[in-house]
Amino acid sequence: MSSITSAASATPQQAPPAHPGRAALQHIPGDEGWPLIGLLPRYFYHLDTLVMHTQRRFGNVVRTRIPGNVGLFVFGADNYQRIFLDREQLFSARHGYQSSLGHLFTEALLLQDYEDHRFRRRLMQSAFKTHSLRQYPAQMNPIIADELADWSRPSGMTIHARLKNLLLKISARTFFGIAADNTDTLQLSRNFTDLVEAMLALLRWDLPGFRYHRGLRSRRALEQYFNGLIPQRRHGDGQDMLSHMCRETDDRGEPFSDEEITNQAIFLLFAAHDTTTSLLNNLLLHLARDETLQESLRGQSRALNTDYPAFDELDGLSGLDHCIDECLRLYPPAPISVRSTLRDCAIEGYPVPAGTTLYLPMLFNQRDPQFWRQPHRFDPDRFAPGREEHKQHPFAYHPFGGGAHKCIGMHFARMMAKCVMHQLLLRQRITLPAGHRSRILWIPLPRPAKLPLRFAPL
Ligand code: HEM
Repeated sequence: MSSITSAASATPQQAPPAHPGRAALQHIPGDEGWPLIGLLPRYFYHLDTLVMHTQRRFGNVVRTRIPGNVGLFVFGADNYQRIFLDREQLFSARHGYQSSLGHLFTEALLLQDYEDHRFRRRLMQSAFKTHSLRQYPAQMNPIIADELADWSRPSGMTIHARLKNLLLKISARTFFGIAADNTDTLQLSRNFTDLVEAMLALLRWDLPGFRYHRGLRSRRALEQYFNGLIPQRRHGDGQDMLSHMCRETDDRGEPFSDEEITNQAIFLLFAAHDTTTSLLNNLLLHLARDETLQESLRGQSRALNTDYPAFDELDGLSGLDHCIDECLRLYPPAPISVRSTLRDCAIEGYPVPAGTTLYLPMLFNQRDPQFWRQPHRFDPDRFAPGREEHKQHPFAYHPFGGGAHKCIGMHFARMMAKCVMHQLLLRQRITLPAGHRSRILWIPLPRPAKLPLRFAPL
């Protein structure tokens, strides 16, 4: 069992405690890697092995360096249960993510704590309730059909770019009620690529030619774009997410401001599209590698007897569910959550000062041999009735996080992935060239570095 204890409580919304500095963490074992950049070079292709070796070498609480900051890796399902559920209001997402997301995703939901967070999460809730989710497949299915129609013809685009393009078109429709053409999606895609690159930029200079500058410029372009959509969505009866958000009211029955809606809408699209693209890339890799598995999923899809399944019919695709689970276990699209301690505390007996950044790679729990048989093997049946390895601990498997910040788009993401895969399986046989081997590139989000898929119409 882990143990996390804290000093006397303090008001959670206080100003962030100052970072304690490197010296204050020297009593904790660890490896800081290179000066300034820390272990970053190993993240690109070896994040999974790095995480497993680090835990094996140093234990569950480990000093590390992420560019610009010395903090702690924390591992272990019990520790995560306490940090994510955060009953003592000790672990701030706001201060944890401020330096990476704060400048580009102003006031985003993930950057809120406690009351502020509850207030803003309410803005999104009706867009993700079951009655809203039921509306989305009918909006996305024709777009998927349209896009997949020519996937067996060479396009000159990578599969990653094709998936991104498809998901942005679906998102434009379901999130904002827009029938996006290629120009719209290209522009949205550029804006979001700029934002992601700016988020990862080591040099945060707002000067022409720098990634950070391009990110800020794209942020302004997106603000303008969403601001232009809001007035009409406030008065219509649209079933897209933005319309739901425009009609939502706060505790006093007041609508949310345009600025608030825009801030959350930009973050929503960011949180949604690269994560689900990552999932689909990894899923396609494994299905192309294993034609027997592919054929069995195709059998379940054929049994639905429709190209355009409704929300409840998607439950019939249990094999696809297990494959999605297994991809999210091995390659979680958001592999490291971040929190900052609001007060002095102790984790597994180590004193941890207020203001310490905690890096929480779910990768360890999701491959911890304590819970998973042959943990590095792709084995979707481990999620099937009879085995259900994920049920041994609430934080053995948590690709969508946990506690107050648990992914609000979890069901939407699965639904979108299933709608895409269902139609693809019905239309195309998916293969890879014989002997193809691919490494996973973990940064910015995990996906095969190369994926030369071939699609043969059925
Ligand atoms: C496979 C796809 C996805 C994965 C793996 C994923 C993963 C996550 C994780 C791990 C968190 C919590 C981060 C933390 O606690 O530090 C999160 C939060 C969030 N996700 Fe997702 N996500 C996915 C798709 C989506 C989609 C499709 C949407 C929207 C439609 C979305 C919207 C959000 C939002 C708004 C938050 C912040 C929630 C809060 O702070 O209350 N995500 N996601």
